[in-house]
Amino acid sequence: MATTKAPEDAYTAAPFVPEHADLAALREAAAGCRGCPLHRDATQTVFGAGNTGARVMLVGEQPGDQEDRRGRPFVGPAGKLLDRALSEAGIDPGETYVTNAVKHFKFTRSGPGKRRIHKAPSLRETAACGPWLAAELRLVEPELIVVLGATAGKALLGSSFRVSEVRGTVLEEEIHGRRERLVPTVHPSSVLRSDDREAAYRGLVSDLKVAARSLA
Ligand code: URA
Repeated sequence: MATTKAPEDAYTAAPFVPEHADLAALREAAAGCRGCPLHRDATQTVFGAGNTGARVMLVGEQPGDQEDRRGRPFVGPAGKLLDRALSEAGIDPGETYVTNAVKHFKFTRSGPGKRRIHKAPSLRETAACGPWLAAELRLVEPELIVVLGATAGKALLGSSFRVSEVRGTVLEEEIHGRRERLVPTVHPSSVLRSDDREAAYRGLVSDLKVAARSLA
């Protein structure tokens, strides 16, 4: 296990990312990441998972409460909804690689039982975690990236990203030295929060169908 330490104010995962590592070695190294303060309160690092030779990589925001406890991305309610939407759009969830822009759960405690409430990561925390996402992209080499919501969009495409402007379209961008194809859509959690859940879900499936067609 690497013993690299970053200064408290370094705010980057870069010193923790091993060179020439495969995904298993990356995952192991990420477990010890101290590249930003989010590791302090989270249970564990939640690294990407799934098919390492996937044609489709899905990028979310950050692990939620259940992901933090179980150590795998998208195993909670948002993940279940995402799997259903993917299947309906013609993408086998079991064939994808799933990860997050930020690998630790950020939360505040609130209410009588001091429940852990999701808090969106800052741009600084997202940027600090970027070297892990870059390494995953380099190793998985997906044909298509499905960008789930604003945090993933900003991590990959810059801070001016607006999901409402580009959702359901196929983008081509240079990211970390590679020409990538991306289809942005909303985050599945936003579907769960929506007043009109059915319409929001239909919108997600429709965007994912764009992704499915662009692979065919
Ligand atoms: N939301 C995310 O963005 N990622 C997860 O892994 C779970 C919920």
